[in-house]
Amino acid sequence: MSPESLDNPLREGLRAERTASPCTVVIFGASGDLTKRKLVPALYRLSQERLVPAEFAIVGISRTPLSHDDFRERMRSAVSTFSESKHLDEEVWRNFAQGIYYLSGDIANPELYNNLSQLLSEIDAERGTSGNRVFYLSTAPSQYSEAIKQLGAADLARSVTPDSFTRIIIEKPFGYDLASAKQLNEEVAAVFDEDQVYRIDHYLGKETVQNLLVFRFANGIFEPIWNRQYIDHIQITNAEAIGVEGRGAYYESSGVTRDMLQNHVFQVLSLVAMEPPVSLSANAVRDEKIKAMQAVRPIHHDQVDAFAVRGQYGPGSSGGHAVPGYREEPGVNPDSATETYAMLKLNFDNWRWAGVPFYLRSGKRLPKRLTEIAIQFKQAPHLLFSKLVEQHFEPNVLVVRVQPDEGITLRIGAKIPGQTTRIRWVNMDFRYGASFGVSSPEAYERLLLDCILGDSTLYARRDMTERGWEIVMPVLDAWRNSRPDFPNYEAGAWGPAAADEFLEREGREWRRP
Ligand code: BG6
Repeated sequence: MSPESLDNPLREGLRAERTASPCTVVIFGASGDLTKRKLVPALYRLSQERLVPAEFAIVGISRTPLSHDDFRERMRSAVSTFSESKHLDEEVWRNFAQGIYYLSGDIANPELYNNLSQLLSEIDAERGTSGNRVFYLSTAPSQYSEAIKQLGAADLARSVTPDSFTRIIIEKPFGYDLASAKQLNEEVAAVFDEDQVYRIDHYLGKETVQNLLVFRFANGIFEPIWNRQYIDHIQITNAEAIGVEGRGAYYESSGVTRDMLQNHVFQVLSLVAMEPPVSLSANAVRDEKIKAMQAVRPIHHDQVDAFAVRGQYGPGSSGGHAVPGYREEPGVNPDSATETYAMLKLNFDNWRWAGVPFYLRSGKRLPKRLTEIAIQFKQAPHLLFSKLVEQHFEPNVLVVRVQPDEGITLRIGAKIPGQTTRIRWVNMDFRYGASFGVSSPEAYERLLLDCILGDSTLYARRDMTERGWEIVMPVLDAWRNSRPDFPNYEAGAWGPAAADEFLEREGREWRRP
């Protein structure tokens, strides 16, 4: 365990006061989409909110030859276009832009790292960034290994002084399968200590995902019923209305299981399934998350159909417009077997969850954008009212809405006012927007700030990245070896009929939120 993440109260995760040290964030892949859509707008916002100090700098690195000023101009338009308010405060921008630098070069060329080393020293002297560095790998994943190796070779992975820090954030996808994730972890470990490594999963930066910890462990009433005695099953839905949005070529090598399930959805799952941590330090939380995931019963490769369903959208409609099928998207093989929808049934072999299935689903071109966790409780043990009322009895459901319309709803039966006893199912509703009246920070803001602060609670630890792959590998292997009958759902539908039939066979049904 690293000294940084030991249970030291000063390093306590999810802490209240958040004052960041001076530092330089070095972005590899600076001409990419993520830099302009998320990273620089998030850093600008942190600067606007004074959550990072004036002694702050950004170095963008990519192959394109650009001057510092060219890059500043590009980032100015990125912030105006993609920051939440779409508004750029000229004064904040002026100070922020002075700390933006650019370096062009080939990731595999040692010269780039010599130049970077020199530039970082100059920035330390000019801006007072104190030798603190965060490297952000946002290149094509095939370049991660090379960048890591070169950073090591150029002696950029070590701290500049005993008091300064050097950290690295690694974007998803973390590997393509279990073997490549393990290899990447090995390569990272050869150069960086685990406490320097921040594997990002932007779902962990979402406010409602963080709230799962508060909801479960700051309230005394949920923990006693959060188990097999009261819960029938749990559904986690991650639905997107969009298709592959011009990312066909990437998606062909990925599919929804790699892109969403084994990382984002599993992170959410682990927060639902974990035991209470002994403290909020990064490792205490992550120890419990991995412990829960280790209890997931392995899916045997010749029983995949009993645990998983895949789908791919054909032509249909989205938001009232006709949209093409996946195979017609640019960059996609017209005969593609890539899944754009997947559902998994997972069982946990532990005391809390024995006998409680978790159904997970994620898909593109579903009817709406929605991520939610639905905890479905068992029926009351004796239905007094069933003799009085001829109606369908709904179970109680606790729904945590991760996005959009963030909040928590409890569905309960209530008597309809009047002389007869009739029951209607109604919602007790908590809405973030209405209760707090402020919008939540973007996931990348929270996560970048956490990394600068040295708090890795909301980042994936090495063991978790490998465990996610371990769970899905038998499914991916079985699917690779058999030809699916695609497309099998229309764009705009809730996935393939086979997913509904799967739950029907289990005596349950998918929610249609
Ligand atoms: C990304 C995936 O990690 O998450 C995308 O690569 C997906 O395919 C996106 O669209 C969804 O993120 P969010 O925050 O919009 O739910």
